[in-house]
Formats: sequence, C-alpha cells, structure tokens
Amino acid sequence: MSSKKIPRLDLPADLRPDTLAVREGLPASQWGENSEALYLTSSFVHPDAATAAARFANEEEAFVYSRFSNPTVMMLERRLAALEGTQACIATASGMGAITMLCLSLLKAGDHVICSQSVFGSTIVLFSREFAKFGVDTTFVSQTDVGEWQRAIRPNTKLLFAETPSNPLTEVCDIVALAAIAHDAGALLAVDNCFCTPALQRPSEFGADLVIHSGTKYLDGQGRVIAGAVCASAQLVDEKLVPVMRSTGMTLSPFNAWVVLKGLETLSIRMRAQAASALRLAQWLEGQTQIERVFHPGLASHPQHALAMRQQSGCGGAVVSFIVKGQQQEGADLARRNAFHVIDSTRVCSITANLGDTKTTITHPASTSHSRLTEAQRQAAGITQGLIRLAVGLDDVADLQADLRRGLDTLST
Ligand SMILES: Cc1ncc(COP(=O)(O)O)c(C=O)c1O
Repeated sequence: MSSKKIPRLDLPADLRPDTLAVREGLPASQWGENSEALYLTSSFVHPDAATAAARFANEEEAFVYSRFSNPTVMMLERRLAALEGTQACIATASGMGAITMLCLSLLKAGDHVICSQSVFGSTIVLFSREFAKFGVDTTFVSQTDVGEWQRAIRPNTKLLFAETPSNPLTEVCDIVALAAIAHDAGALLAVDNCFCTPALQRPSEFGADLVIHSGTKYLDGQGRVIAGAVCASAQLVDEKLVPVMRSTGMTLSPFNAWVVLKGLETLSIRMRAQAASALRLAQWLEGQTQIERVFHPGLASHPQHALAMRQQSGCGGAVVSFIVKGQQQEGADLARRNAFHVIDSTRVCSITANLGDTKTTITHPASTSHSRLTEAQRQAAGITQGLIRLAVGLDDVADLQADLRRGLDTLST
C-alpha cells in the first residue's frame, strides 16, 4: 500500500448525483482550469531515480505510464464510480474490453459462468466461443426466469452475468434476486448497465458486485468515441482488475476518457429527455395496425413493467423495439423484407447499430448486432427477422413518427 496518495477533490460529503456528474474528478492543475484538463502523454517524468523506483514499487502513488495510470482517465473513473455508488472504477478501451477484462481478472480454467441468453450479441460470442477456448464453461439461461438461474448453479460457478434491460428486447431481470443466488453460491454478480446508466439505475444498490459500461453508448452520448468501464469495490478493482489492465493493456485513451468525462456532465438530462421521447414513441407505435408488438419497459404491456419501474427510477429507458407484421402469416422472409422497408424509408433516423446517441438510430438486430449468433441462439434470445430497434435520441418525436409512418403506411402485411 503506497503511503503517498494522488489527492482527492475537496468536495462536501453527500453531494447529489447531478453535482457529482459535473464536479467529481481530480483537483485542477497549478493553472486552475475550470474545464478538466486533457493529459495527452504516454509517460510521466520523475524528479529522480529513487522516486521512480518508489513509484514502480508502489510505495508512492503517482502517475507513471498511461497504459495503467493517467489523470484524465482517473477523473473519468472517479466520476463514474461516484455516479454508480461504487468505491472504484476502471476504464477500458471499449465495453467489450470491460467484459473481457472482468473475466480475465476473475475467472480461470474450470470455472463456470451463468449468463442471460438475452445479452448483447458479442457478449454471447465472447462467453460461448472465446472463453470456452480457455476452459471456462457458460450456461445461458432465461433473462427473466429466476428459477433457471438458480437451477444452473454448480459448485464451480464463479460469476453470474446479466444485462438489464437487455438489448434489443428490453427484458428486465431482477437484480436483487440474482444477487442473492450469486452470493448464496459464493459467486459474484456482474450487471451490464449500458441501457439505463447510473442516471436511471444503480445496480450496486440492488446487490450487484460489478457494473459494466460501454461508454460508447449514453455515457459519451453523442456517438464520438469507443470506451468502457467496470465499477466495483476498491478491493476488486485494485487487487483483481488493475493488475490485469497493467499486463494486458486494454486501456482507454486519455482523449476518449476526456470526451466521456464531459459527456457525463449532461447524462442525466439527456437520459430523461430521451427516455420520455421513447415512451411517447412506444405508446404511439402500440397503436399502429402494421405493428405486431412493441417492447419498452415503460409500457404497461411490458411483462416486467412493475419491476422496471422499481429498479429504473420509474423510467423505461430510451430504447424501443418493435416487430412489424408479416412474420406469422408469411414466414421470416416477408418479415425481414418489411423490416428493411421500414428502415429504408426513414430519412431522419440514422441507420446504424450503435445506440445511446443524441441522434435517433434504427437497426435490424438479426442482421447487424446479433448476426454472429447461431440461428438457435437468435431464437433463444427472441431476435426475429421482423424486429426493429430504435434508440431514441433528442430528435422531435413528431418528426420520428412521420419518419416511421413513411415505411409503415406503404408496408405489405
Ligand atoms: C449492452 C451492451 N453491452 C456492451 C456493448 C459493447 O460495447 P462496445 O461497443 O463499447 O465494445 C454493447 C454495444 O453495443 C452493448 O449494447
């Protein structure tokens, strides 16, 4: 344990999240800048060889080398940890980098993981293909059936992994129940909090041990950079994750950290505005005759509506998915053609698989974000050919309705 520490900001205790989102970080430099500085440097200079040795021996906490310590990255880590209500955070090069680093830090050959079958496509591939190569076995279970998680527990289960709401069907899992199952089995619970962000949901308050972020999504919020993070206790971060970061180099660049740091300042107002528009759009979509089903946790028709309202600060989030008609009657090809027609008829929405942007994005999950899954995995996750995902941004809802109506009104169902 180092005796000399990197200083903390002298802020009053118990500041509220909106204040922490614009304040938490590191003290300003000797120049007294108000907007946080961007430290674009690979390494840091030591006053003498003995100090360098003390710093490398971890006897003195200081910035050494940006693969594992940089002031701008640390500002982001401190701010995000404060918002998530965890003791610590470690930023990573991407959201997938965060999940990879978490697994490399906590798992070894022979360990068992239980993962929701409804998580982001690349997460399924990571567990089912990549970690399987190293002897880590994963059981995929229903996102919403707590009994399935319980029955999947084995003596060697080390990690439960969930994402709530899930991408793209917005299925909500009960974090309190999963945390209890994990802890009874001596395992840890990791929750991907991409869709809600700490502005709406703080999984650690419900018992999650690790909270994952793709900073690429709402944290940046303007579609500019790729970034990720893991928030957890200081013990997990310092003892398990930091050494792996140092050896593997899944580091977030200071520039990207600075962009996300500034994104956090507007996170809460963006999330609430985008979620309010998403709910309005979801309610409107439910009334359209060409649509078979709409998925949004804020709708009373959503199967986990009550749970979502409890867990997500009474808010459904900003992602809405819907299935266009045609699937049941005429088979998958018509459903896919119809979905492509609605997507291709838009002139405002951005056709891109990213989400969390101020610009509304529209995508066909079966052929984009979930295209690397096998057909069986896609079916288990409920990703059908007629499914479209909208990640609602700050566009005017009336313009989005007109944009979708262009395709819906000319659809052959
Ligand atoms: C829920 C979720 N988790 C993780 C990721 C991966 O994040 P990144 O693209 O930053 O690696 C994504 C990306 O779409 C996602 O939607």
